[in-house]
Amino acid sequence: QYKAIILVGGPSRATRFRPLSLNVPKPLFPVAGAPLVSHHLAALSKVKGLTEVLIVGFFEDAIFEQYIEHASNEFPNLNIKYLREYQALGTAGGIYHFRDEIIRGNPQQFFVMHVDVACTFPLNEMLAAHMKHRGLCTMLSTKIVREQANKYGCLVQDPETNQVLHYVEKPETFISDLISCGVYLFDVAVFTEIKNAIDNKKEQDALMIQDSFSTFASADGKLSLERDLLRPLSQSKKLYVYVTDGFWKQIKTAGSAISANAAYLQLQQSEKSSRLATNKLDGPEIIGAVYIHPSAQVDTTAKIGPNVSIGPRVVIGKGVRVKDSIILDNVTIGHASCIIHSVIGWNSKIGAWARVEGTAVNDHNEEMMKNGVKVQSITILGKEVSVLDETIIRNCIVLPHKELKSSYHSQILM
Ligand code: GDD
Repeated sequence: QYKAIILVGGPSRATRFRPLSLNVPKPLFPVAGAPLVSHHLAALSKVKGLTEVLIVGFFEDAIFEQYIEHASNEFPNLNIKYLREYQALGTAGGIYHFRDEIIRGNPQQFFVMHVDVACTFPLNEMLAAHMKHRGLCTMLSTKIVREQANKYGCLVQDPETNQVLHYVEKPETFISDLISCGVYLFDVAVFTEIKNAIDNKKEQDALMIQDSFSTFASADGKLSLERDLLRPLSQSKKLYVYVTDGFWKQIKTAGSAISANAAYLQLQQSEKSSRLATNKLDGPEIIGAVYIHPSAQVDTTAKIGPNVSIGPRVVIGKGVRVKDSIILDNVTIGHASCIIHSVIGWNSKIGAWARVEGTAVNDHNEEMMKNGVKVQSITILGKEVSVLDETIIRNCIVLPHKELKSSYHSQILM
């Protein structure tokens, strides 16, 4: 029997996800027509013998109440609970704090997943690998472009045994292009190692406080899975890796939701999912992977896709073109308008003959450089923004409730 923990963090950490996180906590933001965390649950529901999922974070309880009710219907084989940390305890602190809840029912292994990653989640493959080497932890890893590697936890493995020889969290210099994906499988015996890590940290903190030079040193009450646990685990040869060649994306900024949306839609297309829109005689032209909520009204002369998600009650007019975008609930788009590489926030109104456009970017880099200056690539309209007829909004972030009467480009509109 297995369990899973999904680390969702809390409200203060989603600043880079603004303006979208002003209206919905990041774990519940919809990509490919479902809240981010639902994609984790969908993957977990395919693991035989996995019965319980604990969502751990420091959001208020009420935030997840309705969602859990809904998810419990969608994934009836999973018992889903939200456990609230009284403060941010760190990526391993919450796991340790709720250890009694985790070991209840006597599971042998448990998954830990970061909520802010999008991935094919090869959980069954990780389990199979774990049962072979019998280390205490199997972490999921992927290969990434060399220049981006130091933004993540980096590891060096023994290619024969997949044992992790060296692990460094966000190293200053290049050590490897293999990075941690934020998905782990642990044996329950790891709690002894976490206890040791806590004792070590206490000792170190005590030493630092005694040291008169380090006046700023104090225990922050947090325990980091990456810094305090994975390192000692790799040093004691108990850490293994499973390298995936499926897609993997981190979702930190609002703009990165667009590439996660595309990846999940394409995954669903490759699985021939019935959720996706198809070309029908009395429907709009659909190109590639597209999700349209059943309550949305899309004119038959519109052209939608690839990589588009259209939310509940959206109304799309004649001759509209939408590509590589997320259109959130209750948006209306007037005739002959064009939306490309953008997120259109809840209840927004786009006039006729308007253009809202972002620019495609390379993976893992949604900021572009233009003449040596960083510019926003994806255009994001917050909640209840209105864009008047015939205006062009290009590479902008627009805060909620703005009315845009003229054209703008490369700006943050407050
Ligand atoms: N419950 C809880 N409590 N969750 C937390 C806390 C906490 O105190 N702190 C962070 N999280 C959650 C976040 O919501 C996120 O899902 C995940 O833990 C990791 O967040 P960060 O601590 O911001 O780390 P990171 O994303 O910069 O880097 C981590 O993930 C990378 C992969 O995306 C590291 O594990 C890297 O090594 C890894 O490559």
